[in-house]
Amino acid sequence: MNMSSPERIVYVAGQYCPESEAKVSVFDRGYLFADAIYEVTCVIGGKLVDFDGHMARLARSLKELDMPVPMSDAELLAIHRKLVADNNVDEGLIYMQISRGNADRDFNFPSKDTPPVVVMFTQARPVLESPLAKRGLKVISLPDIRWGRRDIKTVQLLYPSMAKNAANDAGADDAWLVQDGFVTEASSANAYIVTADDKIVTRSLSSDILHGITRAAVLRFAEDAGYALEERSFTIAETLEAKEAFITSATSFVTSVLSIDGHVIGDGAIGPVSRRLREIYLEKAVGARI
Ligand code: PDD
Repeated sequence: MNMSSPERIVYVAGQYCPESEAKVSVFDRGYLFADAIYEVTCVIGGKLVDFDGHMARLARSLKELDMPVPMSDAELLAIHRKLVADNNVDEGLIYMQISRGNADRDFNFPSKDTPPVVVMFTQARPVLESPLAKRGLKVISLPDIRWGRRDIKTVQLLYPSMAKNAANDAGADDAWLVQDGFVTEASSANAYIVTADDKIVTRSLSSDILHGITRAAVLRFAEDAGYALEERSFTIAETLEAKEAFITSATSFVTSVLSIDGHVIGDGAIGPVSRRLREIYLEKAVGARI
């Protein structure tokens, strides 16, 4: 619940209403089975960053889960824009969730004509001048015990939420998740290092990680700017030897990681590569928002 007044207008299953009146069914499959997918799109100056990228990934998530497409991208864009306008959002994000709809609890999927339930709401918050981006992050490493289809953006976020809490309890900001000795990603962002020979390294795309929309943009911009890229797995030990480490996501853009498990990375300050990539991302992706 948003504690600041006035109440937000949210979108629930075809209706716009004040947040206190918004209702979803107890039979929503998102609620009962985490049978729902989502997207988070950043809003800057009342406009949407990389909306087309988020729509492309949404389509992929729907397809992978054999869920129907609820409406066209143009209709989804119109709802995003109306919520931004109605809630006067200058900076922040839009959360969009699509569940397989309402059906009596059953492990089998309901019939194909069950209407999906689309929910959207805004969260106004500073993203350009975020305090964490200015300071840089402390992270801890934790085992990655999520399911095996992390490429699908499902609302099954209990473990990432537990990981974030464990990080906070340990005095850190976030967790980097490790599987078979290699970093997969952060709790809700993609993970990168800059090696001693100035290569930007990030895990390659597979079902082990979410295919970040910011990741795709940042890698494209980095290549254009002449940085050497390597898409491969890396370890925590390699991270400790790295010059820099950083994360990317729709709401953190490019944010430096200054330490991991209490060990300082590089000189413990925001490094030139992550600083420059953040600048380029802001200029190009944020500059092209719609
Ligand atoms: N999280 N990896 C995971 C596990 C994520 O949850 C996210 C995004 C990313 C980065 O993806 P993108 O660049 O498309 O935002 C990577 C969003 C922001 C969230 O859950 O709030």
